[in-house]
Amino acid sequence: MESKYLINGNGNGNSNVNGNTSLTSNFAAKRKLEPMKEQNCLKKPNYSPINNKNLLANKRSCIDQERKALPVYHCRQRILKELEANETLLIMGETGSGKTTQIPQFLLQAGYANSGIIGITQPRRVAAITIAKRVAQELASNVGDTVGYTVRFEDATTERTRIRYLTDGILLREAIADRLLRRYSVIMLDEAHERTVNADLLFGIVKEAQHERRKYKLAKLKLVITSATMDIDHFGRYFNVKGMYLEGRTHPVRVLHTKEPHEDYIHAALVTLFDIHRHEPINHDVLIFLTGQEEIEALAQQIRQLARINNSGPSDVRVFTLYAQLAQSKQLECFLPVPANTRKIVLATNIAETSITIPGIRCVIDCGYVKEKSFNASSGLDLLKTVRISQAQAWQRSGRAGRDAPGICYRIYTKATMEKFRLAAQPEILRANLTATVLQLLALGIDCASFDFIDKPPAEGVESAYKALEQLGAIKAGSITTTGRWMAQFPLDPRYAKLLLAAPTFGCMEEMLSLVAALSSDNVFIGHTDKSDLATLAHAKFQSKHGDHLTLLNVFSTFQKTEKPKIWCHDNFLNIRNLNYARNVRNQLAEISSKLNLALNSCGDNTDAVKKCLLTGLFDNIALLQKEGHYLTLSGRVKAKIHPSSVLHGKYKPQCLIFTELVQTEHNFLRQVTEISIDWIEEIVPSIKCILK
Ligand code: CDP
Ligand code: MG
Repeated sequence: MESKYLINGNGNGNSNVNGNTSLTSNFAAKRKLEPMKEQNCLKKPNYSPINNKNLLANKRSCIDQERKALPVYHCRQRILKELEANETLLIMGETGSGKTTQIPQFLLQAGYANSGIIGITQPRRVAAITIAKRVAQELASNVGDTVGYTVRFEDATTERTRIRYLTDGILLREAIADRLLRRYSVIMLDEAHERTVNADLLFGIVKEAQHERRKYKLAKLKLVITSATMDIDHFGRYFNVKGMYLEGRTHPVRVLHTKEPHEDYIHAALVTLFDIHRHEPINHDVLIFLTGQEEIEALAQQIRQLARINNSGPSDVRVFTLYAQLAQSKQLECFLPVPANTRKIVLATNIAETSITIPGIRCVIDCGYVKEKSFNASSGLDLLKTVRISQAQAWQRSGRAGRDAPGICYRIYTKATMEKFRLAAQPEILRANLTATVLQLLALGIDCASFDFIDKPPAEGVESAYKALEQLGAIKAGSITTTGRWMAQFPLDPRYAKLLLAAPTFGCMEEMLSLVAALSSDNVFIGHTDKSDLATLAHAKFQSKHGDHLTLLNVFSTFQKTEKPKIWCHDNFLNIRNLNYARNVRNQLAEISSKLNLALNSCGDNTDAVKKCLLTGLFDNIALLQKEGHYLTLSGRVKAKIHPSSVLHGKYKPQCLIFTELVQTEHNFLRQVTEISIDWIEEIVPSIKCILK
């Protein structure tokens, strides 16, 4: 296949290529590049290994030089002056300009951490962790000293910590305990343009905390809002402040679109990649944007194999993957230098769009899709859907090629297709399931109707959240119940929290703690290997005829008992990091349960107890087998099939099942399914029996 591209010229900021010249040859075409915008840019690091004793000293001076070259460095005084004069500051600057890593250090040096800590929120745990590590390195200290991070189920801070990177979800939970957020002197809400539900809530909560602190004459709470592509007018109006722009420092990026639409974007990406590999200098690293773990791992596997067979030689490419569910140590690998004469290839989700900067990237391949969770209020179902990115995201992605030097971006979609993309992504609050949000607000003592939202969520979404919370027993007549308060204690989706609260009644607390912990972790099965037949065989040992939840429970319980987990996981093609993570989560959930005095009982082999208990939380996720052979979800009546990854796939089709998630690709799939008896529905969730008729 020959992928043909067109040069795109009428974009914004990131592209400096003008005109709309048609590129008839493929990527080997001559590159006419504009002069660089600025001269004081960083050179691509030279990746040849250094073996001398002064390694650390070299690294330090290198880091210092890098820091001084960042655009934010020159704005240090301005930022500090503005923050001195104002309570809130909006800062907008290109990705990679140093906002996340540098601004907290400026604040630290200016004494802002003397009376409280500096908290910086991140939409994703990977970003919080990698950035805390980087900043600790810059300050020549260890994570947990001056700089630390807190993400769900993991706290790497101590009482010495002054700069704390945390996910927005964590700060929100802290607000439940202290609405005034008294331990903080400054809060930086980073990546504000991502507009996650949690961030949107924090805008209102921090704004209110500032107001309350003023009212009670407490120490001021300074707020810094930073973003790469923020709608500064909208934020400015909401916070009643003016924005500040950091001068950008990106290099020109030549943007190419395919001439034809490519349905199989994975294949197109593969062809494009090897074309780049043949024609571009070896030190031009490549970043490929894809939608999720499965396709990323599959393509990574394919690239590694092809590189081995091709005469490109086995050693001249290094393939890295980067997605939210990846184990931490793996996530960090793509930041490390690769040996000389090796091309780094990173396959990532939108995680690499703004919050993370991988050094050395000169070529970007953009598939034009993103996986997005959305909620259908009328059906009451959460959907994981692959959707088109926005035009703002497309430009953000192409900009990743011009961080270190001029670059090139290959878009696997036509220019006409891109013109149909939304201008900017929709704030999550307008499309998300609001059950957890409403519960969190109620636990904070806030009524959704009176909350000062930056953008009000749709009324039907709020209504549907209230209905779900009522069914879960978290609220009664609009007010939070004790069950609701207990549910809010768990850092879990309210439905999973409900499973734990219900488990003692079914006599299966031990099992439910394990299952919820395993469900909170990412895929424990390793499937994409060159020995996938052996992996399938190994996984078969854990299979439960009841379905995926009990299979997962089998894996986790056996893992808990094994004496040599490393060897055992290796032999059974299981992901030890994800299982260790689940074990850690389980311990923390057990701790919360014990504080709430929940009975720690076990149902042994009585698997029905576990299955019945699942119904107490996942009652919106029931599907019934239809005569035609497919399933119909009880809520929303969505037609779907069992996901190919399920142990029940292609085998036995139960009449009635419960699923963890509805995934929509070209078909609707029910992911993680377990057989249940239809009679239990009336027994356990009588409120929904009417839908059965
Ligand atoms: O937040 P913003 O996108 O403005 O930039 P940043 O995350 O503060 O990153 C500033 C620079 O630090 C990046 O351009 C990278 O060169 C470097 N950095 C790094 O090398 N490794 C990291 N883990 C994070 C940042
Ligand atoms: Mg940043």
